[in-house]
Amino acid sequence: MRRFKTPGALGKTLTNRAALYYNGGPFLIKLMKGDTMETSETSEAKDASISNIRAFNEQDVIIKGWLHNKRSSGNIHFLMVRDGSGTIQCIVEKKKVPENVFKAYDELTQESSLVITGKVRKEPRSPIGYEISVSDIETVHISQPFPITPKEHGTAFLMDNRHLWLRSSKQRAILKIRHTIVMAIYDYFNSRNFVLINTPILTANAVEGTTSLFEVDFFGEKAYLSQSGQLYVEAACMAFKNVYTFGPTFRAEKSKTRKHLNEFWMVEPEMAFGTLKDVFTHEEGLIMHLVAEVLNKNQEDLAVLERNTDILKKIKPPFPRITYSDAIVTLQKKGSPVKWGDDLGADEETLLTQDYDTPIFVHRYPKAMTSFYMVPDPEDDKLTMNVDLLGPEGYGEIIGGGSERISSLELLEQRIEEHKLPRHVFEWYLDLRRYGSVPHCGFGMGLERAVAWLSGASHVRETIPFPRMYYRLTP
Ligand code: 4AD
Ligand code: MG
Repeated sequence: MRRFKTPGALGKTLTNRAALYYNGGPFLIKLMKGDTMETSETSEAKDASISNIRAFNEQDVIIKGWLHNKRSSGNIHFLMVRDGSGTIQCIVEKKKVPENVFKAYDELTQESSLVITGKVRKEPRSPIGYEISVSDIETVHISQPFPITPKEHGTAFLMDNRHLWLRSSKQRAILKIRHTIVMAIYDYFNSRNFVLINTPILTANAVEGTTSLFEVDFFGEKAYLSQSGQLYVEAACMAFKNVYTFGPTFRAEKSKTRKHLNEFWMVEPEMAFGTLKDVFTHEEGLIMHLVAEVLNKNQEDLAVLERNTDILKKIKPPFPRITYSDAIVTLQKKGSPVKWGDDLGADEETLLTQDYDTPIFVHRYPKAMTSFYMVPDPEDDKLTMNVDLLGPEGYGEIIGGGSERISSLELLEQRIEEHKLPRHVFEWYLDLRRYGSVPHCGFGMGLERAVAWLSGASHVRETIPFPRMYYRLTP
């Protein structure tokens, strides 16, 4: 059955006449029995999204969304409408719309949901260059008074209302940058032939120390929420050579810093036959790809966040490579009380990175403070073949765990013992050193740390839709 857009004869199916000639603009259309004349002039409007509104200039469109705010000059109402892709000003002129449409304005509250029909017009004063001259308003739901108003709110209140806070322009901008980064991560590894391996969340073993494990009862057996998928991608890289996992990971730390979450996302590549050199290459390559993608795809979001993009544009490889031992000397020269063998805390990270525009690599940490699976430095047994990547502007460690992994069965057995790890749950992991063991390497990038840095967010809690933090399980 053919359908025709005709003014007037709405929804009528031609049944009682064999044919009818209709003057459809420049064409004479012959309607046959069974054809439907289904639309009037107003319903010719097309569904449009605000982000793509320029494609509909001077056309009638339908926008489905929520009322961000409204104001009126008496004979003209101004509605700011958000549809998820953007926000547009909609003008309702008394002399152009039926009375009931003009009056619909009165009952609309912030966040009421509505369907707007109107003509798209160029408007040089609009931030997006267009506005809508409204012909119809269909109210879907009148919102109760919205708890988040344009006035300032405290963080605890906003976090309690995270499910509603997501609608705010800054939160949307940050999460759109997160979206770009997630897609860019898949893109980076996929285009280099890394195979995606989804690793389990319920595990029997620790990866990064036993103090930050969330315990779960697994049918009477002790299980833990995964701290890292690393051990599993180590197994998978022996099957596919280059692999990565990307998913949620968990740390039961009771920390209340701006960099810590109890549930965060991590991307962890693992490369069979790889060395520390490959770790440097891919950490740098991945970061450069993320910076380029965000600068390319999130201009509007970065502007909403007032992120200084000049800082991001200055990021160029190669990133400086500093040994841990040199970093300690530099920090001491800058007046830090840090000693060789100490961990680099937030203060040290900030002090160390402040002279650089780009992230920096700190490599070869003391063995005593690194993970059990890391290869000792062949040139100095006190050190390990590992590297962390520290972001600029005080964002601290963005990539960690970067290292060559121990491939010798005896050494790994010894390290498991030294770290007092329960040997029996690592038997399968030790198998990887029994059957065609090869040198291999990998690293882990915390997604929220990367999003916080690139978007300029002051706290990782704003970089994940629903953060899980010490004392925060809802919403
Ligand atoms: O340095 P981490 O603990 O390294 C690992 O888990 C390795 N097994 C990864 C590997 O080599 N496959 O964590 C890696 C990164 C950190 O650099 C940081 O970006 C992020 O994960 N991260 C956290 N992000 C938010 N909240 C936390 N509590 C985090 N802990 C680590
Ligand atoms: Mg680390």
